[in-house]
Amino acid sequence: MNSKKIRHYLQFKDFSRDEYIYVLERARYLKQKFKSYETYHPLHDCTLAMIFEKNSTRTRLSFEAGIHQLGGHAVFMSTKDTQLGRGEPIEDAAQVISRMVDIIMIRTFGQDVLQRFADHSRVPVINGLTNEYHPCQVLADIFTYYERRAPISGKTVAWIGDANNMAYTWAEAAQILGFKLHISTPPGYQLERARLSAETLDWVEEYDDPLAACAGADLVTTDVWTSMGFEEENEARQRAFANWCVNAEMMAQAHPDALFMHCLPAHRGEEVTAEVIDGPQSVIWEEAENRLHVQKALMEFLLLGRIGH
Ligand code: CP
Ligand code: NVA
Repeated sequence: MNSKKIRHYLQFKDFSRDEYIYVLERARYLKQKFKSYETYHPLHDCTLAMIFEKNSTRTRLSFEAGIHQLGGHAVFMSTKDTQLGRGEPIEDAAQVISRMVDIIMIRTFGQDVLQRFADHSRVPVINGLTNEYHPCQVLADIFTYYERRAPISGKTVAWIGDANNMAYTWAEAAQILGFKLHISTPPGYQLERARLSAETLDWVEEYDDPLAACAGADLVTTDVWTSMGFEEENEARQRAFANWCVNAEMMAQAHPDALFMHCLPAHRGEEVTAEVIDGPQSVIWEEAENRLHVQKALMEFLLLGRIGH
């Protein structure tokens, strides 16, 4: 076994600001290579195991295409057709899978499951979404903002809707990269402040009124009212979130240059109007594509560390 300390990417705060600056630059470089059809295989012969306990379109495709483009190979595993679905202990699965591959991505329910897997893995583990966090998505969103506008440091991001995995990841990112996060959630669905450190909360402002949260924002973003794993709450959420639909009036409160993002999949007419998500401030398609580029940079960094351009 490699004696070098293994780095995992389980939540946004696992990397420093300086490491993000490197990874974002690297994503830009890899995207440019991809766009000019240049072959680049730094992860030649590497195998990525992708374990899914929840559905996915973007995460699966971007990781699978990404490792292939870097010269490696992906293996898709779901709970439906592996022994994980029949109760094999997560620690045993981690031991076995990490002896056969070079890097692992997992989408699962509890962050504790991901943590236990990582604790028993011999290779880097990446969070492909848990109930608590979705760091790869926020990384892609920050890269998209960087490409379209500027570094996110010093800016204001408005999060409208559920205090879900994306919202908590945005909160961690706000502290690490130094931007303000305005969060507006319906009563009963607020952020659990105890889950965030005092240093993180310094960067977060909560608003009852979503219009007020959007005031002066450089980026307005939202997500589904009901995340995967919470489907039994859907009816109650439909009622509670009715006024947390990002619309033109909210976008008008934001900076005139503000962007709109949504991690997708989206429900037009629920968390966002069609006018906004399909409108001129929306960058959702680039945002989705950028999952590919940032995750290539992430896998390269986790496996090879910093390399020269
Ligand atoms: N945004 C995102 O993670 O999409 P998928 O659920 O399709 O992977
Ligand atoms: N918050 C959503 C994100 C989906 C990509 C969920 O967890 O279902």
